Amino acid sequence: MRSAAPRHLCHIGDLTVEDMDRLLDTAERMLPASRGERVVSAADGRILATLFYEPSTRTRLSFESAMLRLGGDVISTAESGSTSTAKGETLSDTIKMVASYSDVIVLRHPREGAARLAARASRVPVINAGDGAGQHPTQTLTDLFTIRKAKGAIAPNTVAIAGDLKYGRTVHSLAQALALYGVDMIFVAPESLQVPQDMRENLERMGAKIRTATTLEEVIAETDVLYMTRIQKERFPDLDEYRKVQNVFHVNNRLVADGKKGIIVMHPLPRVGEIDPSVDETPAAKYFEQAAHGVPVRMALLADLLGLEVRG
Ligand code: NCD
Repeated sequence: MRSAAPRHLCHIGDLTVEDMDRLLDTAERMLPASRGERVVSAADGRILATLFYEPSTRTRLSFESAMLRLGGDVISTAESGSTSTAKGETLSDTIKMVASYSDVIVLRHPREGAARLAARASRVPVINAGDGAGQHPTQTLTDLFTIRKAKGAIAPNTVAIAGDLKYGRTVHSLAQALALYGVDMIFVAPESLQVPQDMRENLERMGAKIRTATTLEEVIAETDVLYMTRIQKERFPDLDEYRKVQNVFHVNNRLVADGKKGIIVMHPLPRVGEIDPSVDETPAAKYFEQAAHGVPVRMALLADLLGLEVRG
């Protein structure tokens, strides 16, 4: 276990490649326990608090499952409308309180930067489970784990990231991590949903080789990993703008068959029409496995932040 573990995980930039590799190695060891094939009690007596101010299925349940699989306990609010935030309490005050009831906090919030703010108010580790259109670092660890398992390594792949690259927080975290690993990226999106300029410049400063495209057809033959994302309807200031790009991409078996040999298709989910269900039955489909990987990866992260000795 590394001694200088980050106290919080708010941004993927809080981790180095070595940190990420170490967490992915630990996640690998956690696989049997994550499936209940081995019982672990390392987190006995520890409490995870989940605080979600935006909808979630996978992230929240996989964090809760991860803590329970580690032998710990979970407390959570039923929904954001049921917390004192609805009475006007500040996020900082809420976090101070929740930190006195728990050993680690997982926060999802509609405002960019909310996790950083929470981390400053908290005496226990805060994990960002999505802050508006900002970051989603634990999804990225799950994504990296999935790429590594399917392709054997992260680096020598060309990754095409398609969909809502402007508002998609999973994209923002993933692109930065892939840049650190030296992965070539193709950003596939309509002009209005491309990666924000400052982010792209930052990735290029990190040495990333980036190309843009507007259709999947023009990149599919050279893509090892096709990472689809949902158009983030809830972040559009104008719904008419959303309607213009709503159904821009659709992956079907024909497209996958035209793909590079061994291509894999990923998606952080939920999908809303980006991938035809008939693709699910092909060996290229990795999105459900990707969702399942959320548990061992989050077990690894919780163990790291809580300083637990887990034999896995
Ligand atoms: C993503 C999110 O919340 O950013 N979902 C997830 O955590 N797997 C992706 C999305 O909502 O489109």
